[in-house]
Amino acid sequence: MIYGMLGDIVPGKYNHQFFIDAIGSEVWLKRNQASGFSKFLGMVNRRGAALGVNPAVVEASERVGDVLPTLSPPPVSWYPKLMKAAAKSILKRFHLLDPARRLLNPARRLRRRIKHPFKPSDRAIVAHYFAQSSAPKLNIGCGGRVLAGWLNTDYDSKLPVVMYLDTRQPFPFKEETFDYVFSEHIIEHMSYRDGEKMLTECFRVLKRFGKIRISTPDLAFLIDLTKPNKSDLQRAYIKWAANTYIPGAPDDNEIFVINNFVRDWGHIFIYDENTLRGAMTNAGFKTITKFDQHESKDAALRNLENEKHLPPNFLRLESFTLEGSK
Ligand SMILES: C[S@@+](CC[C@H](N)C(=O)[O-])C[C@H]1O[C@@H](n2cnc3c(N)ncnc32)[C@H](O)[C@@H]1O
Repeated sequence: MIYGMLGDIVPGKYNHQFFIDAIGSEVWLKRNQASGFSKFLGMVNRRGAALGVNPAVVEASERVGDVLPTLSPPPVSWYPKLMKAAAKSILKRFHLLDPARRLLNPARRLRRRIKHPFKPSDRAIVAHYFAQSSAPKLNIGCGGRVLAGWLNTDYDSKLPVVMYLDTRQPFPFKEETFDYVFSEHIIEHMSYRDGEKMLTECFRVLKRFGKIRISTPDLAFLIDLTKPNKSDLQRAYIKWAANTYIPGAPDDNEIFVINNFVRDWGHIFIYDENTLRGAMTNAGFKTITKFDQHESKDAALRNLENEKHLPPNFLRLESFTLEGSK
């Protein structure tokens, strides 16, 4: 039912038709019947008498009063939202909303940090994972590569088993939660500074003597491509990369491949071994050791790298892998 013109109750501002909906004692105006709530007008009682401060409510209340009896009561799930909106209106009425926010925000942040809240779906993933894992293992930036026995996370995954985690933000886990962290081809997707933050968080959530394994493209591999006397594998890589990713590029000129590599796929900072070692050391990691693909002294860190998205041997050519311990 079209209920009126917004311009009638918020003079001069709108000339849309409006529809009225009520959630408990809140009155909302909808721009169109199908849309979500578009404007909170304020508080009225169930008979439509205005309780709120918005003058529009006073003007609208008579009309609202006409329709409220025809609206069904709000579902119970809306009650917390209603209470919050009611408290907000009252604080606003007495000009106390901003001081209350200033007072509450640090407490809220602290509570969030203590409780480590996850999205409901993530909460289920995390609860399920920790219920069946005695030596928890965190896989960050997993993409489509979901590892059995790991808590797989990414900031851009539609897979229902993958938890949302943006490694540039504080991880929602307590100190010393995990025995292992694995990160394959993700750190190059952020700035050096964000990589530092990620490593610091990995260190924080690892248990004492916990281990991290990081695999990432190697800047030395790109530099080596510029050298004369290329191996068959290097020549094959240049040809493949040019043909697959760089339309119109000659397939025997590494300069196109190198330029593309440092910018494509969201790459931001390409490490070499020394630079990653330095960043890991700064984050607190010790006994930093280089390993070949799939190899590790620790059985939990073997056979993890994902070779399937590249032709054979290209991942090994492109990447290097470091492990460190807390
Ligand atoms: C090249 S893919 C690697 C996927 C997988 N680890 C593998 O090796 O097959 C990079 C992944 O890192 C994720 N990623 C990039 N930046 C991230 C961030 N700041 N936080 C979480 N995930 C991130 C991307 O969404 C993407 O899935």
